[in-house]
Amino acid sequence: MADRSLVIGQLGQSLDGRVATLSGESKYISGACALDHLHRLRAAADAVIVGIGTVLADDPLLNVRRVPGRNPARVIIDPSGRLDHSARCLGDDGTRRIVLRRAGAVGTLPPGVEAMAVAADTEGRLPPASILAALRAAGLRRVLVEGGPATLASFLDARAIDRLHILVSPVILGSGRTGLDLRPIGGLKDALRPASRVTVFPDGDVLFDCDMRQAALEENGHGERTDHAVFAPG
Ligand SMILES: NC(=O)c1ccc[n+]([C@@H]2O[C@H](COP(=O)([O-])OP(=O)(O)OC[C@H]3O[C@@H](n4cnc5c(N)ncnc54)[C@H](OP(=O)(O)O)[C@@H]3O)[C@@H](O)[C@H]2O)c1
Repeated sequence: MADRSLVIGQLGQSLDGRVATLSGESKYISGACALDHLHRLRAAADAVIVGIGTVLADDPLLNVRRVPGRNPARVIIDPSGRLDHSARCLGDDGTRRIVLRRAGAVGTLPPGVEAMAVAADTEGRLPPASILAALRAAGLRRVLVEGGPATLASFLDARAIDRLHILVSPVILGSGRTGLDLRPIGGLKDALRPASRVTVFPDGDVLFDCDMRQAALEENGHGERTDHAVFAPG
């Protein structure tokens, strides 16, 4: 298991599958219980990953403050150096802060923030498998991919997510950013159908805990369940 990461993705979405309004507002689609759950996921992870789009839109802290627990390392995927040094997730609170960049990228980072270079593929993307290998080499094996949609899609398309927690809130936005835009499939037979456990939170949000590893194995004609009690809803 030392050569594998344990990767969980999360998405807080509306009943109509949106994760943000057209203007980019996403706080607070999820209710209080779902937010507590997200903070529990952070506390169970060694590292939380977000894309630069989320940092620019939301300026998140990415720490654990709604539940007891340890802050995970904060990892930002910023291949082109768009990150502002004043971003709140770069603040020094004793937690590791890592910026993932394309190999060869130049530019300074605030003191104490680690730069990690990842070789890009032919399309200039950072392959999720290489990102996870770089994080494992840094001692970070349990990983939460917190978003946004583009980042989560790149990990899902690469079949690099073991467990996907989709938190559905009883709210309809009617317009705005959709949560998951994956590579197009040829037909319904190609749809991913992960085995899922459903938890209804007291304030009405619903958690779908999806076993993506098993779904990926079934795509290839194999079957095997993953045990991820570490990320079980509390
Ligand atoms: N409801 C939720 O659960 C939730 C969670 C998080 C965010 N959000 C919302 O989502 C929106 C932002 O989402 P987004 O999809 O635009 O942004 P994002 O996924 O946070 O960031 C996307 C950017 O990150 C970089 N990136 C991510 N993965 C990469 C990879 N494998 N290789 C290379 N670059 C990679 C690219 O940067 P470059 O463009 O510089 O190449 C990409 O354009 C915001 O409105 C935010 O509020 C919602």
